[in-house]
Amino acid sequence: MNMKINKLYRTLLFGGDYNPEQWLDRPEVLKNDISLMKEAGVTVVSLGIFAWSSLEPEEDRFDFGWMDQVVERLHGAGISIFLATPSAARPSWLAARYPEVLRVAPDGKRNLFGGRHNHCYSSPVYRNRTALINRKLSEQYGSHPAVLLWHISNEYGGECHCELCQANFRLWLKERYGSLEELNRAWWNSFWSHTISGWEEIHSPVPHGETGSHALVLDWKRFVTHMTVDFMSHEVAALRAGGSTLPVTTNMLPVVEKPGFGPGLDYWKFRDVVDIASWDSYPAWHMPGFAYGGGTGPVDDYRRAAEEAFLHDFYRSLSGGPFILMESTPANVNWAERSKIKKPGMIRLSALNAVAHGANSVQYFQWRKSRGSFEKFHGALVGHDGGSDTRVFRECSGLGALLGTISAAAESLYPAKAAILFNWENWWALDESMGTVNGAGKAYLETLKKHHYALWNLGIQTDILSGDEEESVLNRYRLIVAPMLYLLPRETASRLASFVAGGGMLFCSYQSGYVDEHDLCHESFAPGPLSEVLGLEVEECDALYPGEAVSIKGTSSPVADYQDIIRENCRAEILSVFEGGMGHSRPAVTRNHWGKGSAWYLAGRVDADALDRLYRSISGEAGLESSHEGISFRSPAVSVKKRTEETGVEYLFLLNFSGEPSRVEFDQPVEPFPPAEGAPEVHLKSLELEPYGAEIVRRSPS
Ligand code: GAL
Repeated sequence: MNMKINKLYRTLLFGGDYNPEQWLDRPEVLKNDISLMKEAGVTVVSLGIFAWSSLEPEEDRFDFGWMDQVVERLHGAGISIFLATPSAARPSWLAARYPEVLRVAPDGKRNLFGGRHNHCYSSPVYRNRTALINRKLSEQYGSHPAVLLWHISNEYGGECHCELCQANFRLWLKERYGSLEELNRAWWNSFWSHTISGWEEIHSPVPHGETGSHALVLDWKRFVTHMTVDFMSHEVAALRAGGSTLPVTTNMLPVVEKPGFGPGLDYWKFRDVVDIASWDSYPAWHMPGFAYGGGTGPVDDYRRAAEEAFLHDFYRSLSGGPFILMESTPANVNWAERSKIKKPGMIRLSALNAVAHGANSVQYFQWRKSRGSFEKFHGALVGHDGGSDTRVFRECSGLGALLGTISAAAESLYPAKAAILFNWENWWALDESMGTVNGAGKAYLETLKKHHYALWNLGIQTDILSGDEEESVLNRYRLIVAPMLYLLPRETASRLASFVAGGGMLFCSYQSGYVDEHDLCHESFAPGPLSEVLGLEVEECDALYPGEAVSIKGTSSPVADYQDIIRENCRAEILSVFEGGMGHSRPAVTRNHWGKGSAWYLAGRVDADALDRLYRSISGEAGLESSHEGISFRSPAVSVKKRTEETGVEYLFLLNFSGEPSRVEFDQPVEPFPPAEGAPEVHLKSLELEPYGAEIVRRSPS
């Protein structure tokens, strides 16, 4: 393993995005930054993310002098650097001289210079210019002892519809399908007379052209991911050409269902390019009401913490170990409809929620507020006053100091014996499909988060899987939860079947097993290639109107949106049936024993209470351990998560997501962590969490 990345596994880093290029005419500010960073306990900064025009003010005229100074100063102060490649925003001269580097919108119009993420990944000019600057950065800093990691670009995302991209799309399709006949077959192009007779006739999906061919849309999305990953690999290759062997990451976005947000990329495909995953987390803390069942009240922040946890779990799983929390805000964002600041305690609490789930760093956007332009009012450790006498600075420095004393926890991992299957291509295909429920009501991601929440709330720690993992990886888990697996290639089904046959427990739901990897329907009843394992066939699925009186018999749990009608030949054990609707008295929840394991099926969309009951019995049957074991607390807003060392030592993170204090009691005494100064032998039987309080305790194996 690369020795530099090792450090990320040995310490909990603390810091943020540092933009000295905005202050080059203010040397006193830059000097002061270092002493303020020391005061705050900063141990790492992300440097140079948007600094291209300062590093190369004119074509081929490079100016690294200022960065040399900054790097030396940071190094002198013992602060490490995640050094960025600057491709996320380009200098104006580059766009003016080579318009091909700018993106073309779906309507065919080339963008003007402006914004960021406004570049074509196919453009040979853009590729050459990024390769050149990356190579130079690598030569200059690639073996500098302060530089720990390459921060490649910034939040890759978006797409380009220029002619170069169209040509690359066609090439990619040729490679994928080999012949037009094969492509026409896979895309079912005889439909609406869409048969294609020449490769050059293919165009990306655009509103004034084709958007109704599901397979075309799916392949375009795959292609956009492919181009982006390819571009990132190209960036990394240039760093390697410059001699650097440092590990790489790229900061990824929150994965959200909201249209227009999010990357539009299948992040799983970045797994092979990044050495460690990192992401930027911006939850709307303190916003009333929330996804999992609406409602407002004392547990809203708890639910939001759960949603964050889903993403922490995803990025930790993508990382295959600890991940980096590359960005978050120490106070407010500046782009929300209402950009709320964090209540006292929330800085430490949200940071420890990340660490609890496997983050080995807590970093902020941004170190210092800029004086001008778009983000001048975005939260930062240092505000426009330029000093440290602020609540935010004090709370952040407290966190910095804490992270410095709990580094021992960096080598522990987040143990999980349950996993949720989140397949990106399935998400895309399901979103595109026209069927039972259309539009936002399908809610694939939200459904995954609801199932995740039910487990998280019970203290059942989960990993996230893509579904493409080898059997040996699947076999590490006792339970795999795979709701709404609409796109189900035979191969995935057969790996899941082997997992069950070998003793695993699989949980599936309505809207599963309809199409193969080309979005072509399986020639069978749903859930297609999983019917045998699940022991049932779905003959019809009814769309429920809001308010239709359908429930799970014997409970008051309503069923919404989807109600499967399972055929009479159901071989699975029927655990509950529907009350009402077309599927009245038909199976609602089933379990099929298969090989050494079992496969469960949920035939309608149920609410949080029903999921809670379901997962209580599933996790009991699967023998899943809860992180709550040996711990009692009354507040529904307290979350307890644990990281475990190989030695069996456990770090328990006790997190109170409410404005009320809360007491936590332990069956066996635990040690405070970090140990109380001057009293290393202290043992606790209970402790009091402050409002929005967060504590860590250590439990040694008995
Ligand atoms: C991130 C981005 C940062 C900054 C931040 C503001 O998505 O990477 O550069 O813009 O948002 O919240």
